[in-house]
Order: sequence, then structure tokens, then C-alpha cells
Amino acid sequence: MLPEPAEFLVEMTEASDNEILVMKVRNLAERLGFGRTDQFLMATAASELGTNIIRYAGSGAVVVRAVENASGPGIEITASDRGAGIPDVQRAMAEGFSTIPGSLGMGLPTVRRLADEFHIESETGKGVRIRALFWMKHAADRNTPDPA
Ligand SMILES: Nc1ncnc2c1ncn2[C@@H]1O[C@H](COP(=O)(O)OP(=O)(O)OP(=O)(O)O)[C@@H](O)[C@H]1O
Ligand SMILES: [Mg+2]
Repeated sequence: MLPEPAEFLVEMTEASDNEILVMKVRNLAERLGFGRTDQFLMATAASELGTNIIRYAGSGAVVVRAVENASGPGIEITASDRGAGIPDVQRAMAEGFSTIPGSLGMGLPTVRRLADEFHIESETGKGVRIRALFWMKHAADRNTPDPA
């Protein structure tokens, strides 16, 4: 597979789009030097956001971007949709809150916990935009380079 560009957009309409998103996030994270645990955590966050778009808004998009600060690389994941929005964001962010019976209501709280920065904006009738940022914390987290 060709390397991911440093920024890409995945249109979300069906479950298979989420699989593509997860794979692309992992690949980018690996390429930037994130270790396997970080790759997995970022893929999990992207998957929760992607799943919510498909479930609650029907469609939307996730933009993934390589970013950098003084201490190293990071990944920004921005999920947006033009669905109904979340009427009470604070409630939706609480662990265990779900409008779907039988769902855990853990997606958004999990993304917030995993991310180093988390921003959520919602406007009723206009949609939701969520931005999650992940920074590489320890040089020790870096992948050991592949053997030549
Ligand atoms: N993009 C969205 N548009 C509209 N409502 C949303 C969106 N994302 C989340 N919500 C609302 O916020 C609630 C909480 O979301 P969260 O992802 O935490 O839990 P869940 O999707 O219900 O369950 P889980 O993610 O654990 O399977 C949802 O039940 C839904 O009502
Ligand atoms: Mg969810």
C-alpha cells in the first residue's frame, strides 16, 4: 500500500468506511513513529467517532492530519457531520449515556480520555464537529525501525 499523505479525509457512510478509516489512522501513526499501543488507541478513537457519524448522522467525514509541536509529532482527528446534532453535549459526554438501548454509551467518554486535547461542538439541526489531538509522549513509545 502507498504511504498515507500527511493529511487525508475519509467520507463516512457505511461500516466499511470505518474499517478504511481505522486502517489509515494506524498506518499514518506507524509512519510518524508512534508505537503499537498508541496506534491502537488512536485507531480506537477514530473508530468511535466514525461509528457515531454513521449511526447518528447517517453520513459525514473524518479528516486526519499529521501535526507537530516542539516536543514531537502528533495526529489530529476531526470528525464532522451535518446530522441532527447532540441536544445536550454534557450529558452525551457522561459515561454510560446513550440514546440507543443496549449501547454502552462509552464512545465519546473514551475518546475524551484517550486524547490529549478534545473539542466538541454541536448545533441542533446542523451537526457535530469533534476534534481530538494525540501527541507522542515518550521517545520510548516510538517504533523500533524495521530491519533493513
Ligand atoms: N455525531 C453524532 N450526532 C448526533 N448524536 C450523537 C453523535 N455522536 C454521539 N451522539 C449522541 O451521543 C450519545 C453518546 O455517544 P457515545 O458514542 O458516547 O455512546 P453510544 O454511541 O451511544 O454507545 P457506544 O459508543 O458505547 O457504542 C449517543 O447515544 C448519541 O445520542
Ligand atoms: Mg458511540
